[in-house]
Amino acid sequence: TPNLPLAHQHVLVTAGGTREAIDPVRYISNRSSGKMGYAVAQVAREMGADVTLISATDQLPVPVGVHLVKVASAAELLTAVNAAFPTTNLLVMAAAVSDYRPVQSADQKIKKPADHGDLTLQLTETPDILKQLAPQKTSQYVVGFAAETQHLLTNAQRKLTQKRLDLLVANDVSKPGVGFNGDTNQVTLLRPNQEPVKTALLSKIEIARTILTTAVAGGAVKA
Ligand code: C5P
Repeated sequence: TPNLPLAHQHVLVTAGGTREAIDPVRYISNRSSGKMGYAVAQVAREMGADVTLISATDQLPVPVGVHLVKVASAAELLTAVNAAFPTTNLLVMAAAVSDYRPVQSADQKIKKPADHGDLTLQLTETPDILKQLAPQKTSQYVVGFAAETQHLLTNAQRKLTQKRLDLLVANDVSKPGVGFNGDTNQVTLLRPNQEPVKTALLSKIEIARTILTTAVAGGAVKA
C-alpha cells in the first residue's frame, strides 16, 4: 500500500544509551536520550510496520502500538538484538552502545578506601553488535548511526563499510541543535556507492521519516 509503505514488515529499532554496572548503585553511560530511536519506532509504526523497540532508556513514552523490550547493558542489548534479528526485515540501530564496560561489576557498593587514595576502574571492550551481525545478514536492511565530534564524513564512511551497513546516519554532535537530547537533528545519510546527502535541521520525527523513506527507496522492502 502506498500509504503504508512498511505494511507486513518487521522493523527492529534500538534506542538509548546502555548502562554498564560498576556496582549495584553506579554505572557508566553516555548522553544519548533515546529520542531519535523512539521517533524512528513511532514513524515506522505509522508507516504500517510491526515494530519492536529495544530500549535502554525508560525516560520516554513508548509509542502506541510498538512492542517494547527493556535492556540495560550492551550485553543485554546484544542478546535481545540477536534473538529478534532472524525475523527482522529492517534494523535501525539507533542505540548508543557503550564501547567499554567495567571488567568486574562489584556485588556490593564500592566503599572509599581508608587512605582516600585514587580508585582505578579497569574497562574492557564490549562486543560491536552491528559488526557481529554482518555475517548473519540474509535479506535484512541494516541502518546504523554515527555520532561524531570531528571528521564526520571520514569516520562515517569507514563505519558504513566496516559494519557492512545499507545506510548510515551521521550526525555532528558538536553542533548546537544536533544529536543528543534535543528534539531536532541534522544528519548526513551515507549509502554504499552513493554521494552523501545532508538534511536540513529538522525535528527528530521528520528525520525519522527521511531515514525510513530512504530505506524503502533503497530496497528495504523486498517484493
Ligand atoms: O563505532 P560507533 O559506536 O560510533 O558506531 C555507531 C553505530 O554502531 C551505531 O549504530 C551503534 O548502535 C552501533 N554499535 C554497535 N555495537 C557497539 C557500538 C556501537 O552496534 N558496541
